[in-house]
Amino acid sequence: MKSTIRDVHKHAGKEVTIGCWLANKRSSGKIAFLQLRDGSGFMQGVVVKEAVGEELFQKAKGLTQETSMWVTGVIKEDGGRTALGHEMEISNIEVIHEAIDYPITPKAHGTDFLMDNRHLWLRSKRQHAVMIVRNELIRATYEFFNEEGFVKIDPPILTGSAPEGTTELFHTKYFEEDAYLSQSGQLYMEAAAMALGKVFSFGPTFRAEKSKTRRHLIEFWMMEPEMAFYDHEMNLQVQENYVTHLVKSALKNCRPELELLGRDLSVLEKIEAPFPRIRYTEAIEFLKEQGFDDIEFGDDFGAPHETAIANAHARPVFITHWPKDIKPFYMKEDPENPGFVLCDDLIAPEGYGEIIGGSQREDDYEKLLTEMRAHNLDESDAYKWYLETRKFGSVPHSGFGLGLERTVAWITGVEHVRETIPFPRLLNRLYP
Ligand code: 4AD
Ligand code: MG
Repeated sequence: MKSTIRDVHKHAGKEVTIGCWLANKRSSGKIAFLQLRDGSGFMQGVVVKEAVGEELFQKAKGLTQETSMWVTGVIKEDGGRTALGHEMEISNIEVIHEAIDYPITPKAHGTDFLMDNRHLWLRSKRQHAVMIVRNELIRATYEFFNEEGFVKIDPPILTGSAPEGTTELFHTKYFEEDAYLSQSGQLYMEAAAMALGKVFSFGPTFRAEKSKTRRHLIEFWMMEPEMAFYDHEMNLQVQENYVTHLVKSALKNCRPELELLGRDLSVLEKIEAPFPRIRYTEAIEFLKEQGFDDIEFGDDFGAPHETAIANAHARPVFITHWPKDIKPFYMKEDPENPGFVLCDDLIAPEGYGEIIGGSQREDDYEKLLTEMRAHNLDESDAYKWYLETRKFGSVPHSGFGLGLERTVAWITGVEHVRETIPFPRLLNRLYP
């Protein structure tokens, strides 16, 4: 009977055949231990010379790393020696394809080398674990928003508009017209919220940012919920409940992966809504008290500033009420605090930086138009439709965008976002 490694516990005491690759091996004169992987998991296969005979034993000893094969044997409980809890007593090995000189060996390799070999590096245990956690956060996202009555909406990737400023756009020709790769689906999600109430998107977004940091990708994936009739405070509540759900889901369903990655689970276990909230003005004061003299009112925060604020709290922190001048055109001005907007950045703990940007949106047609003109955004076809959302039954509404890769980096404890996406696009890397 065929099985996958993930399912072997269902076949204890029985013989199964598994299609797999050789991840690693070690052997003595009498016994060989094969580390097998099949995508669904990792398992130890044991080849005992006395049981299988000289020929199969020598074949097992000679297997090269990443050779693909069908292995057959009886599944045994291993008394908890491996994370899987079961191993295979191998009775047959049928090689499908022999791998010669696999470049990623069990010794340590440099980052550039691993990035050049990303297509192969993905097969390693740690990378496998990160992808499993990423998948869990995607699953938990759909679960959370479906449960809360949101409708999944897919905004276009090829667009004519630039919600987050025109300096970081990827330009392309759209037949005779100019188009850009989407920086954010937000403007479309606002229109969709007027049709379906509560909506969320999950898709790739692109920023031609010349940033080379551990938090920046050129192509990254964003979850963008948008809610009609939600004000700033309700928006913050959705964010803290959603992020808490992500952390709890990873802890519940990915404990072995997080342990393999060496994540300190005690810090994740402390994540619980509500999250602390501080206003931008208070954050500036706090930073000055902490001895940062490179920051002035009106500046955006850099990584050291975000980290200092995060380190003062055990949970993610909202920084709210930013000066209008340093935020995008669509944010609603705080009626009680002119010059400031009803927005938030959510800063993850432990130096992982901003994982969410959100705001209540300007819902007044004239005010929005004034802002758009001030930002040199025209009223032509590219934005006319967006302005119309404020012409026909405009309502207070709010939304946010959560960057998946930064969230995966924080939850897994992986240092750099390049390991949190299967094939990262970085400032100087388009391959593999
Ligand atoms: O703060 P940002 O730019 O917000 C928006 O795009 C809004 N339109 C979202 C909305 O309200 N619907 O981006 C949102 C999040 C950031 O907090 C960060 O997590 C992630 O997207 N992000 C990046 N992640 C990786 N690499 C980059 N270059 C990123 N830029 C933003
Ligand atoms: Mg932001």
